[in-house]
Order: sequence, then C-alpha cells, then structure tokens
Amino acid sequence: MAETEIGFISGTGPQGRGLAMRFALAGVRVAVGSRQAERAQATVDELNGLAAAQVGQGNLQPIVAGENHAVVSGSRFVMLTVPFEHAADTVRGYKDSFREGSVFVDVTVPLQFGKGDVQVVVPSQGSGSRQLRGILPESVPFTGAFKTLPAHVLEDIASPMDCDTFVFGDNREAKQQLMELIRRVPSLRPLDVGGISAAATVEGMTALVIRINRKQKSQAARFRVAGIP
Ligand SMILES: NC(=O)c1ccc[n+]([C@@H]2O[C@H](COP(=O)([O-])OP(=O)(O)OC[C@H]3O[C@@H](n4cnc5c(N)ncnc54)[C@H](OP(=O)(O)O)[C@@H]3O)[C@@H](O)[C@H]2O)c1
Repeated sequence: MAETEIGFISGTGPQGRGLAMRFALAGVRVAVGSRQAERAQATVDELNGLAAAQVGQGNLQPIVAGENHAVVSGSRFVMLTVPFEHAADTVRGYKDSFREGSVFVDVTVPLQFGKGDVQVVVPSQGSGSRQLRGILPESVPFTGAFKTLPAHVLEDIASPMDCDTFVFGDNREAKQQLMELIRRVPSLRPLDVGGISAAATVEGMTALVIRINRKQKSQAARFRVAGIP
C-alpha cells in the first residue's frame, strides 16, 4: 500500500468514514483500514463516490483501503476509530506495526449509554486515553483529537464543519503537526488544550455534547469556543 498521511484503524464506522471524507476533500492522502480488507475496500468505494459527487473527481484525493496492519505501517498519523470497549485490545494488536516517526491519534471515548442517559466510564487510569497510552510503545507519540465531533456532522460533507476540535498530547511537536493537518479542513479549528491530562475533561465534554443533542433533538450540536482570536 502506498504511504498515506492519515490511516484509520477500522475507519469503517461513522466516525472514521466522516473524518476520512473531510480530510480527503481537503486534499489529504487518507487510508481507511478494517480487520477485513474487503470491508475497507467496500467502504472506500462508497466514500470516494460520495466525495466525488460533492466536489467532482478532479478535486478529490481518492481514499485508499487496506487491512489494518498495512494501514498502520503505511501512515504518518494513525487514528483509532473503534468502539472504546475494543480499543485496548485493538492497540495491543497493532502496536508493533507503527513505523518510525508516526503519531497516534486517539478518537475513542469511553461512554456508556442508558435509556435517556449517557455517562463517561472512567477507567482506573483516569481517562480512556491514559489507558491506551499505557499500552502503546513510548516511542510512538500519543495525541487525542475529534472526540467531541459528532459523526453526523463529519459525514454531512455538504455542510461546513464550523466548529472547534480539542487537541491534546504530551509531545509538542507531534501535537503541532497534527494541528497543522487539521487546519487543512475548512472551518475546523484545532484548539490545543494541553497534555494527556486533558483527556478526561474532553471525554466528559463528549458526553455533554451528546446530552445537548438529545435534549435539543439535534444531531449537529458541537463546540465553538468564543473569545479567542
Ligand atoms: N459516532 C460518533 O458520533 C463519535 C463521536 C466522537 C467519538 N467517537 C468515537 O469514535 C469511535 C468510533 O465510533 P463509531 O461510531 O464510528 O464506531 P462503530 O461504528 O461502532 O465501530 C467502528 C469500527 O470498529 C470496528 N469494530 C467493531 N467491533 C469491533 C470489535 N469487537 N473489535 C475490534 N474492532 C471492532 C469495526 O470495523 P471493522 O470491522 O471494519 O474492523 C467498526 O466498523 C468510538 O470510540 C467512539 O467513541 C464517535
């Protein structure tokens, strides 16, 4: 598989699909991974069709597909988009496939949904990201982003993002590079919220935005912070 700027571990769900399209439309080389290569290919065929219908074939950076291991080893930024309950096992399964210089981006959120309720299930390490940091080799810089962005908003590619995403990580260089990448997506502003100690707060804000969406009977609520130039 040719090298890509972004690779999604199991990017076949709504969150991975939406992020993949937004970045591809911004001209970024993206790979969508899956545990099954055929499933990744079917997803990518669909996403490329949707994205081309939006901007025309000429302007599109076509998304490529692959089995997760190949996507991890071939990507600069590796984004994890599996349900949180499978995140730890997934990271264990691919942790040796990261190439030198790549950056891990955690998109997962440890949430529990009840009837009319959503709660963060706080792991003993203090946040979902801290738990995963403990599994990933220290040599791979760990960042988090996109946790509070609803998939519905990401997948609605005809509408501008028009919001902020909170970005954290202890490796300043990796975090700055990720923020540069995010700035390529029109009207999506990355906000640096500090190191991995911010993860618990950001994960809590994801539960909050889901609550807001439910109460307002919307799927499009997201955060935009006022007061910064
Ligand atoms: N949906 C949202 O609005 C949203 C917003 C913010 C953050 N997030 C976070 O983003 C992540 C992905 O959300 P999603 O809604 O896209 O998830 P999802 O559709 O439930 O799952 C995404 C992919 O994970 C893989 N997967 C499913 N079960 C698995 C298992 N048992 N073991 C390993 N992999 C498995 C599947 O890919 P393959 O079968 O192709 O491998 C699946 O397509 C979650 O952690 C969620 O908390 C979601």
